[in-house]
Amino acid sequence: MNMNIMKVDYTTKIPNNVNLAEDRQVLKALEGWHPGYIDWWHDMGPDGFQQSMVYLRTAYSVDPRGWAKFDYVKMPDYRWGILLAPEEENRTIPFGEHYGEPAWQEVPGEYRAMLRRLIVIQGDTEPASVEQQRHLGKTAPSLYDMRNLFQVNVEEGRHLWAMVYLLQKYFGRDGREEADELLRRRSGDADSPRMLGAFNEKTPDWLSFFMFTYFTDRDGKMQLHSLAQSGFDPLSRTCRFMLTEEAHHMFVGETGITRVVQRTCDAMRAAGIDDPTDVAKVRALGVIDLPTIQKKLNLHYTLSLDLFGSEVSTNAANAFNAGIKGRYHETQIQDDHQLKNSTYPVLKLVDGEIKRVDEPALTALNMRLRDDYTQDCVKGLLRWNKVISTAGYDYKLALPHTAFHRAIGEFKDVHASPEGVLIDDATWAKRRDDWLPSKSDGDFIASLMNPVTEIGEFAPWISPPKVGIDNKPGDFEYVKIET
Ligand SMILES: [Fe+2]
Ligand SMILES: [Fe+2]
Repeated sequence: MNMNIMKVDYTTKIPNNVNLAEDRQVLKALEGWHPGYIDWWHDMGPDGFQQSMVYLRTAYSVDPRGWAKFDYVKMPDYRWGILLAPEEENRTIPFGEHYGEPAWQEVPGEYRAMLRRLIVIQGDTEPASVEQQRHLGKTAPSLYDMRNLFQVNVEEGRHLWAMVYLLQKYFGRDGREEADELLRRRSGDADSPRMLGAFNEKTPDWLSFFMFTYFTDRDGKMQLHSLAQSGFDPLSRTCRFMLTEEAHHMFVGETGITRVVQRTCDAMRAAGIDDPTDVAKVRALGVIDLPTIQKKLNLHYTLSLDLFGSEVSTNAANAFNAGIKGRYHETQIQDDHQLKNSTYPVLKLVDGEIKRVDEPALTALNMRLRDDYTQDCVKGLLRWNKVISTAGYDYKLALPHTAFHRAIGEFKDVHASPEGVLIDDATWAKRRDDWLPSKSDGDFIASLMNPVTEIGEFAPWISPPKVGIDNKPGDFEYVKIET
């Protein structure tokens, strides 16, 4: 069994390691869904380049020691498959009221609605980001970056397949209906938008794309980690394999921002600029100034914080009690895994002041996951700030305070500065453009977004990567563009 699951069956139309060949009903449902997916990909997937050969990785195994193969593929021919991480023998539910009981292989009736909802929400984010990024191929700063964009896109497509498989296999007719709805909603659509705010925002340029893959894909990472703990074993195994792919998405974001910061610092040094906040002077060099990078960071980080939901949430408590959604690294935490008597500090608005208040740990699970997320975000900032300080500049990128620019949770009705000082509406209106990308910031960045498609060349606002994908040399043709 364990040997079988490592290998992916490519003989069926839908590659899989879940023995679809013998699961006729689910195979039929998935084959019925497939044409609609391909239509969606053509309508809402990458704009252009569908006939180009792209150097992509495809999963051929779920063995963590070697699971991907790289080769040239036309995106519509990508083999989107259903891949679950190997079953852990005798796995037990690691938290909640069912702590220690055998993990479920079928959906427990009492938690059916809750599980379906969580799977649909996760599933909805996957195609949404593809829709948000669909126009970016046309302004890619290099073939290397274009390839990374398309890799992220096809894998988000596969993540949609992963959630649709769960819906179709375990949720009968309403699962099939939800699967169809996932292809019907559209990012940013007035009538049927995607389910979560950040997934209806625009990704107007490549700096936004890097910020998105760094900050918003990382929210995805945290959600997948907590679902990977689930007592519903098929969900756990699905999410565990998705995390393997997700790491590359955040790599694209982290190194992308590093390369932008690097290029800016190099250009400032070469031009003898001492003050990195002299925006006009820096922009005249055709690179993105650090204060604008900070504004983009402020925007994408706070949109991503909103994805964690309200700090205090009975839904989160219920999902934990039920054994459906655990904590980040649940099995490594030393406690009762039931949170019967523990508390967790939550930042709240109390009498007009931001205060730390102890809440029952059970209802504060969103806050806890968000704190784990913030800690995870810090790593990139350290790296980017290292680039800046190594270049000799006294400037630090920083994460804004969690009260800043929020649309969900405790601070949604107040304004705060990035430092976390509460301010009135007038001050906010006056300062907003100092803290978040303004129209003119966006116009400036847009003016730099000129495509570079010569092999081994890079747009002047971004440094080349240190190493190629799959260890390819600098002059590797990552995308063979058909003209
Ligand atoms: Fe994903
Ligand atoms: Fe992702």
